[in-house]
Amino acid sequence: MIRKKVGVLVSGRGSNLQALLDACADPAFPAEVALVISNVPGVYALERAAKAGVATRVIPHKPFPSREAFDAAVDAELRAAGIEIVCLAGFMRLLSAGFVEGWRGRMINIHPALLPAFKGLHTHERALEAGVRLHGCTVHLVTPDLDDGPILVQAAVPVLADDDADRLAARVLEQEHRIYPLALRLLAEGRVRVDGNRAAIAAPGPTGALVNPAP
Ligand code: GRF
Repeated sequence: MIRKKVGVLVSGRGSNLQALLDACADPAFPAEVALVISNVPGVYALERAAKAGVATRVIPHKPFPSREAFDAAVDAELRAAGIEIVCLAGFMRLLSAGFVEGWRGRMINIHPALLPAFKGLHTHERALEAGVRLHGCTVHLVTPDLDDGPILVQAAVPVLADDDADRLAARVLEQEHRIYPLALRLLAEGRVRVDGNRAAIAAPGPTGALVNPAP
């Protein structure tokens, strides 16, 4: 089996990167992480990559004269490494339209909310304020608009009466670590077809409904 070469862009602790590295440790997984790029020096994600024997690059964004110039440097590293799929995993930079276009259909992001609800930052606080009973996470293909783009996989969790943002975030994060490798597998196996703003996925159906509070 030829495994797809994956580049992961990070800015922080890298727990989603770890989930991808763990999935790729299985030789039967259809993708392998070949390069990790961070725009922030010294973050724990870089240590995780090094421990897994994966090449890393640090490209601080500050010295670049423009967003486009920074993105071009990232793009050059990805292409030089023969990367076929890009995963954004806690990468805290907006990407220019040109970069996104260059990776159209081959770049995915994980967002800690059930999109299209709660795009942007502080999703758990906002979910609590809104009083939703179900919250969760989404893996989607990246398009030029922030936290937009065809949805590949979502997981929902209940919001509980005594939740604060940290407790809710932890419950969601556990699901992020399940669905990010799943979404990468579906994409790497060529089981994703994009039709306008929707993705059709050749995969088994859902396992059941989540109702909160329980009926
Ligand atoms: C995750 O909550 C992810 O959904 C969001 O940023 C956070 C990154 O966490 N995009 P980590 O660096 O993967 O631990």
